[in-house]
Amino acid sequence: MKEVHSYWAYLVLIILIFAVINAIIGLTQKKQFTDKDLRIGLFTLIVSHIQLLIGFVVYFTGGFQDGLSEMKNPAIRLLSLEHPLTMILAIIFITIGWSKHKKKTEDAAKFKSFVIFYGIGLVLILSRIPWNNWL
Ligand code: HEM
Repeated sequence: MKEVHSYWAYLVLIILIFAVINAIIGLTQKKQFTDKDLRIGLFTLIVSHIQLLIGFVVYFTGGFQDGLSEMKNPAIRLLSLEHPLTMILAIIFITIGWSKHKKKTEDAAKFKSFVIFYGIGLVLILSRIPWNNWL
């Protein structure tokens, strides 16, 4: 599962970066919000939720909750607390972005929801990936 989580992370990052760039282009070039844009947003939502579930399995089967008593060690704090919490928050933002876009009727407003909320999700994820362990 740890390996699946490690590889799935590439997919999450690639599709999320793609979704944010696609939404920025749609917004700035005043494009029509098409089925393709909807699918990109939905695919990103699904892929990131799957990563969330895999992350929970890695966390609880790997005994990472035991690290919660070792908060003075930055490496342990990252994996036991900061990474999981920040990723959960990032996925909450992505989910809000998805539901907000559905309620909007104007194309620009739909793109804007993705730019803001998927964008915040991306920044949060980038800020707390354990880069040293991963790459
Ligand atoms: C979008 C969400 C997430 C992304 C992109 C992500 C990405 C990553 C990456 C790249 C690593 C390093 C893998 C490696 O060492 O090869 C990692 C490790 C880890 N992740 Fe996540 N993760 C996400 C969500 C979560 C969540 C929600 C949890 C727990 C609830 C979690 C728990 C862990 C744990 C415990 C490790 C350390 C595994 C180890 O080194 O043994 N992750 N994650």
